[in-house]
Amino acid sequence: MTDRPQDKDAANSMWGGRFAAGPDAIMEAINASIDFDRRLYAQDIRGSRAHAAMLAAQGIISDSDAKAIGEGLITVLSEIETGDFPFSAALEDIHMNVEARLKDIIGEPAGRLHTGRSRNDQVATDFRLWVRDQCDAAIAGLQALIRAALSQAESGADWVMPGFTHLQTAQPVTWGHHMMAYVEMFGRDLSRFRDARRRMNESPLGAAALAGTGYPIDREATAKALDFARPMANSLDAVSDRDFALEFLSSASICAVHLSRLSEELVIWSSAQFRFVSMSDKWSTGSSIMPQKRNPDAAELIRAKIGRILGATVALFTVMKGLPLAYSKDMQEDKEQVFDAADHLMLALAAMTGMLSDLTANRDRLEAAASAGFSTATDLADWLVREAGLAFREAHHVTGSLVALAEKKGCDLPDLTLSDMQAVNPAISAGVFTVLGVHNSVASRQSYGGTAPDQVRAQIARWKEILA
Ligand code: ARG
Repeated sequence: MTDRPQDKDAANSMWGGRFAAGPDAIMEAINASIDFDRRLYAQDIRGSRAHAAMLAAQGIISDSDAKAIGEGLITVLSEIETGDFPFSAALEDIHMNVEARLKDIIGEPAGRLHTGRSRNDQVATDFRLWVRDQCDAAIAGLQALIRAALSQAESGADWVMPGFTHLQTAQPVTWGHHMMAYVEMFGRDLSRFRDARRRMNESPLGAAALAGTGYPIDREATAKALDFARPMANSLDAVSDRDFALEFLSSASICAVHLSRLSEELVIWSSAQFRFVSMSDKWSTGSSIMPQKRNPDAAELIRAKIGRILGATVALFTVMKGLPLAYSKDMQEDKEQVFDAADHLMLALAAMTGMLSDLTANRDRLEAAASAGFSTATDLADWLVREAGLAFREAHHVTGSLVALAEKKGCDLPDLTLSDMQAVNPAISAGVFTVLGVHNSVASRQSYGGTAPDQVRAQIARWKEILA
């Protein structure tokens, strides 16, 4: 960061009219945001170009000044993009850095750009534009992730695996069904980003410092130029609220929870004890001391991202809570949290998409595990109700006795003989064996949204249509 003497003069010329002395060095350090808000440069320049064009169209500044400003801003943009821009902490933030440089380049007309505008509506506009882009990136990332989960679901729509509750074997489900559960979660995440984007898509520009302006500005025009649906209807609200950032962070947090849960399952499933899945080498690491190891580091890191994303969310809620209207400098603390959360969410989405695409589910292991732990006990109880006329409570009890018997004999339920079963309840007939296998079990779960392969395939088809 260069801090040239002329930067201090430039800063002074922007707001220092009533100040006798410059800021203390520590004041400059706590006040400056340029180290991080330089990320808003493209949005800042876009907003300024729209503003200058509108000022000229309204006859507030001359066409030639607007032209000089517009061209100068393009030069500034290319300087920043090529790394030739002299960022300065004395110039506090991206807004003053850009404007000061514009003055270097085009001279006096630069001073007219800030007519009918304040850094308060400027930063609110820049940041909304930036967060809106991040919503688009999250939506695209989630679409890719959903496609990866869908293709896993499709290849194993009828592969049986254990379904768990309490991480104890509960009932057999299908691999496709399990993958589609995440498709639903990520689908809701996607719709949350869409909703948030739609709500934030209003322009704060022209709210000025807080009260609007006496210049005959055209807020509809700047809103349109920036692809906002409309201008925000209350100038105090426009410069004060950061709910759009909170909504983005909240949506990101919920999405990160989903990513974290899937990661946790992949960590468990790839362990030597489970071996439900094999992670590709591309997404694993070895150990420097234990040659046999293949660690699911990517999954673990994605699992952890919720920590910083939720941390950012809590931080910004805490900053915003209790602030009086309208703008307070506290709100400068919004950006780093959102930048960090967005970066890590996009990384986590991309890593999960890659990991899932390169993942191999071990069909035989899944099926073997599905049969263990008396996973078809509920099917047996249901059969007793349906075919032997028992009340469910009684059927539950009889099944419990049969499980205990199988446990004693060291076998699974389908391995019990008919006479073993009839000794427990004489109403049992040979037909019982048709429901005991795990394939029979999943095929019978035909209720809407159930685990039967037909149901799973119907949901896959529905999602393909949604994505098409
Ligand atoms: N850098 C400031 C921020 O990020 C810009 C707005 C400054 N406004 C002001 N009244 N000092 O919030």
